[in-house]
Amino acid sequence: MAYSFLCDLTAVPLGAARQFTLPDKEEVVVFHTSRGYFATAAWCPHAGGILLEGQVKKGTLKCLWHGWKYRLSDGVCLNQKGKRLRVYDLKIEDGRLFIQWDSPDRSARGDAAVNG
Ligand code: FES
Repeated sequence: MAYSFLCDLTAVPLGAARQFTLPDKEEVVVFHTSRGYFATAAWCPHAGGILLEGQVKKGTLKCLWHGWKYRLSDGVCLNQKGKRLRVYDLKIEDGRLFIQWDSPDRSARGDAAVNG
């Protein structure tokens, strides 16, 4: 499946998160953590919490609205059984980040992070 250019790696420094609008108007957030780059849906599937403002810690993302905690690598919710956050495949080429935004939901497969 095809990847689309998202941004230069310098656009998301280590420890930062940045929100992007994909060509189909879908909103995603890219997190650059010590474990690599991750991309998720921008809104929490519980009640629409703003995940750009979420707390990233040890490979997880915590929504600050009600505390649902997601594993960044595959979107599995760690404290709400059976719930998932949409995550996207990423790849790095020549200092640029690409996203597979038109692909099936990666959260069903459990892929790992992309390291820069
Ligand atoms: S909106 Fe995210 S936990 Fe409720």
